[in-house]
Amino acid sequence: MTELRESTVLITGAASGIGRRMALLAAERGANVVAWDLDGTGLDKLAADAGGVVTTHVVDVTDPDAVRRAAVAAGPVDVLVNNAGVVAGRRLLDLTDRQIERVMAVNALAPFWCTRAVLPGMVERGRGHVVTIASMAATMGVPKLVDYAASKHAAYGFAESLRVELAGVAPEVRTTVVLPFYINTGMFAGASTRIPWLVPILEEAEVAERIIRAVERNEDRVMLPPIGRVAFVGQLLPPSWFDKLASVLGIHVSMEDFHGRALPAEDTAPPEPPESPARPARRAARSRG
Ligand SMILES: NC(=O)c1ccc[n+]([C@@H]2O[C@H](COP(=O)([O-])OP(=O)(O)OC[C@H]3O[C@@H](n4cnc5c(N)ncnc54)[C@H](OP(=O)(O)O)[C@@H]3O)[C@@H](O)[C@H]2O)c1
Repeated sequence: MTELRESTVLITGAASGIGRRMALLAAERGANVVAWDLDGTGLDKLAADAGGVVTTHVVDVTDPDAVRRAAVAAGPVDVLVNNAGVVAGRRLLDLTDRQIERVMAVNALAPFWCTRAVLPGMVERGRGHVVTIASMAATMGVPKLVDYAASKHAAYGFAESLRVELAGVAPEVRTTVVLPFYINTGMFAGASTRIPWLVPILEEAEVAERIIRAVERNEDRVMLPPIGRVAFVGQLLPPSWFDKLASVLGIHVSMEDFHGRALPAEDTAPPEPPESPARPARRAARSRG
């Protein structure tokens, strides 16, 4: 069991969505919550709604120096929740370089910076828990999620390897990795499910409660909904069969109507079209008449 009462629980991306919900739940259970996010206004609202028992800090988790400084300010951390995440939701050739870098920096690399900042203290004190919010996209490919799925495969690999590494050197430090399907937080607004009774869009409050319970019970891996485990079994199939199954379930069209939240201005510019080798030749051919 991981006891949350009087533990320090650090949650990244805590200004909205499941991060905010987990912060409120942990505070209700008597934890000292430290909430990090880029969104200072959202953090202020969280602190007010939690009745002053949440400490907030504007931190860009993609900046390793800023993360280290903020971790020192937070003091000893008992539970870290690597939750901050972003999605662009475009086909590979429609993404800007900046969007790809940002998705990888927040979803794949930030768990490294945050965990490395607090893990030495956990190992030294012989107590701790590292939670990583991956995604069901860590188990399969999805059109318009090439960058996101790649980043979540990385987050999943990070968490799985960390679990077995810690089992050898610091077994009292536990890990939990969470792989949810779409959640109604707004991050994936517009994404859909074809068979909602089997694979539903998840409720933000239920997901947050389930993750907090998983931490308390030291569960290693949480698939939401549990039927998502089929994806692991599906990997045993030849890829063309697995793709057919995912396609029948509507996974391959699930991002068709995605619109998400508004992106930062620098991310909305369409990418420069790649200079195809055929183009100069065609131009030359045209100019030759
Ligand atoms: N929603 C889903 O359908 C779904 C499904 C599977 C997995 N997940 C994962 O679950 C986690 C939480 O998702 P959510 O739906 O709750 O999303 P959310 O409501 O968008 O919350 C994510 C938070 O992370 C913050 N953030 C982004 N970049 C950051 C950075 N560089 N430094 C610090 N904070 C940063 C965001 O701030 P800004 O708003 O300022 O960017 C936002 O407050 C993510 O890891 C996500 O990938 C979500």
